[in-house]
Amino acid sequence: MCGIVGIVGSTQVTERLVDGLRRLEYRGYDSAGVAVITPQGVLERRRAPGKIAGLDQAIAQAPTDGVIGIGHTRWATHGAPTLENAHPHASGAVAIVHNGIIENFQELRTELKAEGFACVTPTDSEVIAHLIASGLKQGLNMAAAFNAAVDRLRGAYALAALNVDEPGALYVARSGCPLVVGLGESEGYVGSDSLALAGWTNKVIYLEEGDRAVVTAGDVRILDAEQRPANREVHVSRAVAGFADKGEYRHFMEKEIHEQPDAIAHTLSRYVDVDAGRFNTGDLLDWAHINRLLSTACGTAFYAGAIGKHWFEAHARLAVEIDVASEFRYRDPVIGPNDAALFISQSGETADTLAALRYCKAAGAKTLAVVNVAESSIAREADAIAQTQAGPEIGVASTKAFTAQLTALACLAIGAGRVRGVLTEADEARFVTELLEAPRLINAALASEPQIEAIAHRLTQVRDVLYLGRGVYHPLAMEGALKLKEISYIHAEGYAAGELKHGPIALIEEGTPVVVAAPYDALFEKTLSNMQEVAARGAEVILITDDKGASLAGDGAAHVVTMPDCPDLIRPIVAAAPIQLLAYHTASLKGTDVDQPRNLAKSVTVE
Ligand code: AGP
Repeated sequence: MCGIVGIVGSTQVTERLVDGLRRLEYRGYDSAGVAVITPQGVLERRRAPGKIAGLDQAIAQAPTDGVIGIGHTRWATHGAPTLENAHPHASGAVAIVHNGIIENFQELRTELKAEGFACVTPTDSEVIAHLIASGLKQGLNMAAAFNAAVDRLRGAYALAALNVDEPGALYVARSGCPLVVGLGESEGYVGSDSLALAGWTNKVIYLEEGDRAVVTAGDVRILDAEQRPANREVHVSRAVAGFADKGEYRHFMEKEIHEQPDAIAHTLSRYVDVDAGRFNTGDLLDWAHINRLLSTACGTAFYAGAIGKHWFEAHARLAVEIDVASEFRYRDPVIGPNDAALFISQSGETADTLAALRYCKAAGAKTLAVVNVAESSIAREADAIAQTQAGPEIGVASTKAFTAQLTALACLAIGAGRVRGVLTEADEARFVTELLEAPRLINAALASEPQIEAIAHRLTQVRDVLYLGRGVYHPLAMEGALKLKEISYIHAEGYAAGELKHGPIALIEEGTPVVVAAPYDALFEKTLSNMQEVAARGAEVILITDDKGASLAGDGAAHVVTMPDCPDLIRPIVAAAPIQLLAYHTASLKGTDVDQPRNLAKSVTVE
């Protein structure tokens, strides 16, 4: 994930900006840079591909400093990890740093070109600098030019900007990606998280969704999403340089649920070439000559694989067999010469999944791993890896890693579909566009949190909950049940909605809570019938759907949580957010140890 830092104040900033970037190295990056306004009123940038040592060298070779500056560690999204594509990007008097994905950057680039602002890089971020410069050119002051530019952006982003003609202020905004403002005695700070600011201040303000702010030496003025002046609580951060911090959240799990726009955006950045409208996953396995993919994992990762199965079979016509890793090798599976094996694991250390990998390698199958920890055992032993970019996941209950796994699996399935000649170039370009909407849409889905928290009060009173879903929402129902079980200790079962009449419906009595995961799709009407069957027997239905599903649901559901309308491919990714929030708030209200639930470990390294 990209990292942002900024300082405005009274003493030299360059070295401190680089220190702040070092505290963000854990997020992963492949280039870094700073921009400062010198005492002579010159905007100077120093950037370098690779690690921060390269930036140190660039600064040593051409020292620069000032009392205001911004810095950035970039995880390459649009455009390779080169010096030219490294942030900060500049346009005239303006420099910016950006984290996230700007979905409409191509149209903005075309518009700006007509105004004479020629982009010199393939990045989406560069257009932000030109948009602000364009506003200044039209006579707006920096505050108005910055706001006008941000109004044009569509996507998930956190950004900071400075203007050489206004050397006393940093302009910042966030939508979908976190951004923290730090308050010093005579300085102002900004960072991607409080960890970045840990060396400068522990008084922090966590900007809220849609906030924009002007940070000056010792002060900050914030506008909310409706551009109204806003007062935000000043927290005392307990972040200590080098350790992850919960920030403004009560639990790491809550923070990680809200980090999903970022995690998805950065996972996409690894596998999507936005300019070309294609995925770069086509060569991870010899997709054209594989007849079957054996997918094994445990827990949440298994449910991600079960959703991925739908995508491989629908979009690549590739047969997928799924197993929980603890069962796989003991059933003496038949592994043929044209089989390949897929292993999904957040930690990359789960013993059963690692053992299944070794079993498949011994049988001669090519192995591909979707892992979140780059240096893990599974990552090292697989023939190929598709690493998720969720960043460190501290909460034992997996959330952002799950949606990052889904994102990576979608990229793999579409890439395979192209290589296998099932998808056209136009299909692939359409899927790129759809997946790029996922960060923004899951962020919009998080807005239902207050309603979900209210529903959670109901679940704290019950002993059993049923989760239902069809198609890709069957594994999601299983995942929802797992989330609730593992952090609230309430018994829950996930079931294929069509299976209800084959036994489980006997469980339904007055007030039995039934969560139905059913955004509108081809199977919706069938799931709606199942929902009405349980409602008719007294169940209290919690329906998770979208606008169309809500309009058709009638009065069968006691609660309807409406997620944003989404392209078909990304709907299960976005639907994960309300599912996770329901479990989180139920457990939080029950007062269980949400981040470290009883009996559980973050990585199960024993059989
Ligand atoms: C998920 O919430 C659980 N903590 C657990 O099921 C987990 O997904 C499983 O242990 C697999 O872990 P891994 O992804 O690190 O392999």
